[in-house]
Amino acid sequence: MLATLAPSTSKTLVISNGVYGERMAAMLGAQGRAFDACVFDWLAPVDLAVVEQALQAQDYAFVVTVHNETTTGRLNELLPLLDLCQRQGVQLLLDAVSSFGAEAIPFEHPALAAVASTGNKCLHGIVGTALVMLRQDLLQGESQANSLYLDLFPYYRQQQTGYSAFTQAVHAYYALQASLTELAAQGGYQGRQRRYLQVANRIRDGLEALGLRLLLPRAQSCSMITCFYLPEGWAYEALHDGLKQAGFVIYAGQGNLKQKIFRIANMGHIQDADVDRLLAAFSEVLG
Ligand SMILES: Cc1ncc(COP(=O)(O)O)c(C=O)c1O
Repeated sequence: MLATLAPSTSKTLVISNGVYGERMAAMLGAQGRAFDACVFDWLAPVDLAVVEQALQAQDYAFVVTVHNETTTGRLNELLPLLDLCQRQGVQLLLDAVSSFGAEAIPFEHPALAAVASTGNKCLHGIVGTALVMLRQDLLQGESQANSLYLDLFPYYRQQQTGYSAFTQAVHAYYALQASLTELAAQGGYQGRQRRYLQVANRIRDGLEALGLRLLLPRAQSCSMITCFYLPEGWAYEALHDGLKQAGFVIYAGQGNLKQKIFRIANMGHIQDADVDRLLAAFSEVLG
């Protein structure tokens, strides 16, 4: 998405409050694309007043940001940002890698230009597919790509004739097709979000009952991952190893959250009995 759309002749504005927003800035840097960044604390929401000031100070080709910042599980609010972009006459490119399939994305909003995601998170496919959903008019102009493989234009042109520009991971696309059928059967993203929240809330309730503290308020959290502060006196490795012995793999924090938090994702076909086993394992490991 960035490689094809972000121009090198005018600037892109990156809004970040976590690893993946900061990574988009790093990607633009590596691609030699001009950008400015509004960088926010990983534990804070995006401050739209700061973004507005930046957008008023100069013209940007695009604004780019992350929907669900998987670093903390914060679901960044889209509508106020999209409305601001519309007022300022700029369009948004969105990383929805860990939200597409389980959270609402206002595709009809005129300021939303493109959304990038993957088959292997909330869609429940396998690793090997990346998707960009974008307004067709963006494919009418000149590609900004300085990479052959990351240029969406030839993929789009070939797609019209039923072919692919390059060799695809065909098995991953079969898995994606099956996963989309399952998503539709579950009631689309709304049905999946409902189930994720049931599972996440049981995990949140259960671990809070054991004395663990959530990193973010529930109202600011996504449905597919939850961050907890490490329990008092526990190093991440000890908790990870104890739970692994009981059959569960938790996920470390990133950056300076590494020794402060752990994360539990709840994507996939998780049953209530699995959550019971997880809570029992925590109870046993924490003693
Ligand atoms: C929000 C977000 N963006 C992008 C990525 C892709 O990161 P990577 O290519 O390192 O897997 C991830 C992976 O977890 C993510 O959560």
